[in-house]
Amino acid sequence: MPLQKGFVLSRKYEIVDFIGRGLIFEVYKARHTRLSKDVALKILIPEIASDLEFTRFVIRTIQNTASLDEHPHISWVLDIDKDGIYIYFVLDYLPKDLGEIMDELDMERALYITLSILDALKYAHSKGLIHKDIRPSNVRLGEGDEPVLVDFGMAEIAARAALRFKKTAFIPPPNYTAPEQIKSFELADHRSDIYSVGALLYHMLTKKPPFEGDIKQIYYQKLSGKYTLASPRSLNPSIPKDLEDFILRAMDPDPSNRFQSVEEMMDALKGFSGRIVKRFVSLGFEERRPEGSFRRSVEMEENLPFSLEYIECGSVMKINEPFKLTLVFSGEGEGRVEIKVPEYISLSSLPAQNFKAPCEVSWHLITTKESYGYFDIEVRLMYEGYEVLKEPLKIPVLIFPIEAKEKKGTKKTSFRIFGFGG
Ligand SMILES: Nc1ncnc2c1ncn2[C@@H]1O[C@H](COP(=O)(O)OP(=O)(O)O)[C@@H](O)[C@H]1O
Ligand SMILES: [Mg+2]
Repeated sequence: MPLQKGFVLSRKYEIVDFIGRGLIFEVYKARHTRLSKDVALKILIPEIASDLEFTRFVIRTIQNTASLDEHPHISWVLDIDKDGIYIYFVLDYLPKDLGEIMDELDMERALYITLSILDALKYAHSKGLIHKDIRPSNVRLGEGDEPVLVDFGMAEIAARAALRFKKTAFIPPPNYTAPEQIKSFELADHRSDIYSVGALLYHMLTKKPPFEGDIKQIYYQKLSGKYTLASPRSLNPSIPKDLEDFILRAMDPDPSNRFQSVEEMMDALKGFSGRIVKRFVSLGFEERRPEGSFRRSVEMEENLPFSLEYIECGSVMKINEPFKLTLVFSGEGEGRVEIKVPEYISLSSLPAQNFKAPCEVSWHLITTKESYGYFDIEVRLMYEGYEVLKEPLKIPVLIFPIEAKEKKGTKKTSFRIFGFGG
């Protein structure tokens, strides 16, 4: 039975709101009446509070984790107290969690959050404490929206409580939990936390929790050791290949194939974030069309070994006549260029081509679409697997159904081409 609003515990914590109920705790928003500060209270539910032996275990476990509060990305108990039948923990009130901001995170922010959580774990692991329940609702937002890891020790308590009170094993949500920990809570070690951080990053970058679908099936698959995980790049192609490899390595079913320590994982991630947090410069290049040539510019990552010198193509694409697009690169270095066209356009070669500057890269485009209109050829540039243009470059092309016109006996007409400079 939840406590009423206005109820005061230990003459200082006034209940403001009931937030939620778990296996062991009821969570409340409360106000520290003397400090005029909001806090969260986790109150042991009465059935559990009346079990003295278990209560002692809970308090000991929380005491073990109390020293972790020194870390900027960890938030844990401010106080433990008892008032009558109520045994409770006082926490910073952090109403927002990572799950709520998941969809708005960009790659840079996702990497920052991951590094912050890893730093928190480095500290905890060095004290011999494993979290065992890292998931979006246990990463909350602190002051200035800094990510903080909460609920250290809670998985241990939940595991013991499940056995004692429910006669079942405690199984956290399977999406983020390492397979060995699903097999047995006792099998979890620091590499199980590494798995969960990989799963969090998977979710932040793909916007989908790993292993979507029926929870029981996910448990079964993970228990059997035979499971397939949708590759991060299949859900979000802008994830660089080596960042995908990083996630999949952290989430390897076999702990001995993962990063073996948080430090090792952090070192690998710092390498990426240097590449992903980019600085762009405006790069000028020439666009050559039958109507003449003119200057264009794109926002491109600075300090690349190659540069786009010019693009050459027609302005009008006629039905069943190949249309040539050429990109000319200067400098000295390898890259990859990819074009995207509507589905009614066929290409003479694969849309993505590796190149070694200085060089030319060409495609022939052809269409049978019997209508008049514009479309854009979208160009993306990659270096070491990372996109280097801030936005894909768009080259407008006009389709003109010349055959249809000729059948009707009309001569090829000349027309003005709009928007192509000149
Ligand atoms: N420090 C906190 N400040 C505000 N709300 C919290 C805090 N900790 C937990 N909550 C909320 O209390 C409820 C129960 O939390 P908890 O028992 O930790 O379960 P979970 O981690 O699955 O959300 C959740 O709705 C959670 O968002
Ligand atoms: Mg929690």
